[in-house]
Amino acid sequence: MDPIKNPYAPGAGQRPPELAGRDEQLRSFDVVLERIARSRPERSIILTGLRGVGKTVLLNALRSAAVRAHWGTGKLEARPDQRLRRPLSAALHVATRELGHPQGDDVDHVLGVIKAFAQRDSAPGAKLRDRWNPGIDAPAITGRADSGDIEIDLVELLTDVGGLAADVGKGVAICIDEMQDLHPEDVSALCAACHEIGQSGLPVIVVGAGLPHLPAVLSASKSYSERLFRYSRIDRLDRAAADHALQLPAREEGADFTPEALEAMYAATGGYPYFIQAYGKVAWDVAPRSPITVEDVAVAAPEAESELAVGFFGSRYERATPGEREYLRAMADAATAEADKAEDVQPDDVDSVPTAAVAAVLDRKPQSLSPARDALLKKGLIYSGERGRIAFTVPHFGRYLRSTA
Ligand SMILES: Nc1ncnc2c1ncn2[C@@H]1O[C@H](COP(=O)(O)OP(=O)(O)OP(=O)(O)O)[C@@H](O)[C@H]1O
Ligand SMILES: [Mg+2]
Repeated sequence: MDPIKNPYAPGAGQRPPELAGRDEQLRSFDVVLERIARSRPERSIILTGLRGVGKTVLLNALRSAAVRAHWGTGKLEARPDQRLRRPLSAALHVATRELGHPQGDDVDHVLGVIKAFAQRDSAPGAKLRDRWNPGIDAPAITGRADSGDIEIDLVELLTDVGGLAADVGKGVAICIDEMQDLHPEDVSALCAACHEIGQSGLPVIVVGAGLPHLPAVLSASKSYSERLFRYSRIDRLDRAAADHALQLPAREEGADFTPEALEAMYAATGGYPYFIQAYGKVAWDVAPRSPITVEDVAVAAPEAESELAVGFFGSRYERATPGEREYLRAMADAATAEADKAEDVQPDDVDSVPTAAVAAVLDRKPQSLSPARDALLKKGLIYSGERGRIAFTVPHFGRYLRSTA
């Protein structure tokens, strides 16, 4: 069918033509916005899930909901090699402007505090001209949020920004993507600041998104984090939502899928949003006419798989060293072995494997594999949800590894 009209959107953070299966998260976020604006206690929100499951897209949708409620919002993506000050001050700069506070002096004061917070980033003893200029058009306020102790500074910063929002009866949402990559000190300071801000009833929340082990990262940092955040597991779509994600955009263009085609799509994609978009895109292009049939899906599958092999799996696999790749393959084999032991279980269904089983596959001592495992954890290719077990962060990664062996 006409490729120009193809509605599907495979790609990191690409807004899907239809955000399927997330109504509950969207609805409860509206309640959170409303409650916070009325000074009711509410927890910050953390979205967790595997790669390609739709965390970034949902985070963006929640941010849009906050914007529609006239909140101030800002977003940052954490990176392992970057500290929090710069990206957070840029995000709060945007959020503060979005609030549209009528009192210019008050706004300038808060902007000055944000600037002071940002500029504290420079190495000790750095010359003034070496300081990073956050592009804030207000003089820095000295003596506020610039002590150099990130925890103290964050509390002061968020207190001032929250105060500004409270003045206009709105709130501020700080969206943090890839939150598991924050520096440990920044995680700890952010938790402490949220704790403090929550107690003073100021309308500031963090909306974070990250890999499935993010809750473990937070609770390792502060034991009270479970009370601070509401965790929402973003999962693959169920059958109805997956059909919706495919059918609605097609119907907008006057096209459709046969019921058998939808069933085949679900079998191939497992309901994972990235795979739905990737398969949808190819199926649309190969189908000669509407409705898209099960035969069209069969023709599309090899092309969709090869595109995923390059863009989704391969790009990640390439980041691993030869030793790490050996470890990844052993994980896939260990999952197969685990599946063989049980009845009616496919290797794809095995969520995690014991690290000891991986060592057994390679016939090595577990300790000797720690460097490879730690490097893979750091690269975000695997995660450990419970002690002694590991899993791929990328869905169907084991299947990919087995098929390229
Ligand atoms: N609810 C949804 N319905 C349909 N498609 C979706 C949905 N959520 C996400 N997608 C699609 O899935 C793909 C991946 O989305 P996104 O980048 O948000 O995932 P992610 O969880 O942030 O992945 P990563 O961990 O790699 O950052 C995109 O192509 C997006 O359009
Ligand atoms: Mg993402």
